[in-house]
Amino acid sequence: MNKNIDWSNLGFGYIKTDYRYVSNYKDGKWDNGNITTDETVTLNESAGVLQYAQTCFEGLKAYRTIDNKVVCFRPDMNASRMADSAKRLEMPVFPENRFIYAVKEVVKRNIDFVPPYGLGAALYIRPYMFGTNPVMGVKPADEYQFRIFTSPVGPYFKGGAKPITLRVPDFDRAAPLGTGHVKAGLNYAMSLHAIVDAHKQGYNENMYLDSATRTKVEETGGANIIFVTKDNKVVTPKSNTILPSITRRSLMYVAKKYLGLQAEEREIRIEELNDFKECALCGTAAVLSPVGKVVDHGKEILFPSGMEKMGEITKKLYDTLTGIQMGKIEPPEGWIVTIE
Ligand code: PLP
Ligand code: COI
Repeated sequence: MNKNIDWSNLGFGYIKTDYRYVSNYKDGKWDNGNITTDETVTLNESAGVLQYAQTCFEGLKAYRTIDNKVVCFRPDMNASRMADSAKRLEMPVFPENRFIYAVKEVVKRNIDFVPPYGLGAALYIRPYMFGTNPVMGVKPADEYQFRIFTSPVGPYFKGGAKPITLRVPDFDRAAPLGTGHVKAGLNYAMSLHAIVDAHKQGYNENMYLDSATRTKVEETGGANIIFVTKDNKVVTPKSNTILPSITRRSLMYVAKKYLGLQAEEREIRIEELNDFKECALCGTAAVLSPVGKVVDHGKEILFPSGMEKMGEITKKLYDTLTGIQMGKIEPPEGWIVTIE
């Protein structure tokens, strides 16, 4: 660990690491791929990604465990979700086994950037791909680049485990054509106005509602949402226009199998917020960030868990999930991939 980084005070930002992975798709096939030190990308002015935003990405983390190993959490799930994103955006799939190999390779090369155990930091891994050749008419590119870079990161929301505040915005998530379920750069670009506006007004994030009826809870700009009912059931919105979070799927499993709780995916109406005792955002970046309050056009919903600490069930879910990731709790089969 010879990198001069203040691991305990990292935010969620880009820090250049030494190596990244690159593979190019041309004439109907992916090349062998290689590791490079060059962090720049040079593109034709009319590249598909620049004109019609033909790009998708993934996000996962490498963790240092209590016994000083470096591990990844469920990279096969990211590989398969990226395949879904690519198909939806008419891009060639980067083979899932090669995705996992490339993730391992790039982490191994940047091993000194994996933060030490116990400081609340991890090495964020960002696989992504984009159309590279010139296009003019609205159609998919023929050539693509797949890359993976890494960056050491700390908590996504400033203030550590302090509960955050959400607001229900006037804007839709604006996932065009219901493509919110894929991790497309376009979906995030369309959410930037809402997030800047939320921050200006003092909120940490937006809680988006379904765009068809604006009555059901969807997700936030960079994380899914879970709630805890007064009788300790974990509930989370069922919707096919939100991103299928790997963290959320893992938490629902943890709730049932490790904590013996009931866990249910179902439609959640905005009026129901008053009935919940806890709320939290879940995702690779967000981990499990408690939500203390939601503001819906001047109406405040303060969850009984309050603005000072994580709710009791949220804390149990958080401790179990991070315990599995950090090698303190026996994982379900296949969840932890050891890199070194
Ligand atoms: N929803 C959105 C919009 C996201 O950007 C993310 C992050 O990837 C998530 C949910 C959480 O997904 P995961 O748990 O797979 O990281
Ligand atoms: C992740 O959690 O990996 C995400 O992609 C969230 C993000 C938008 C930073």
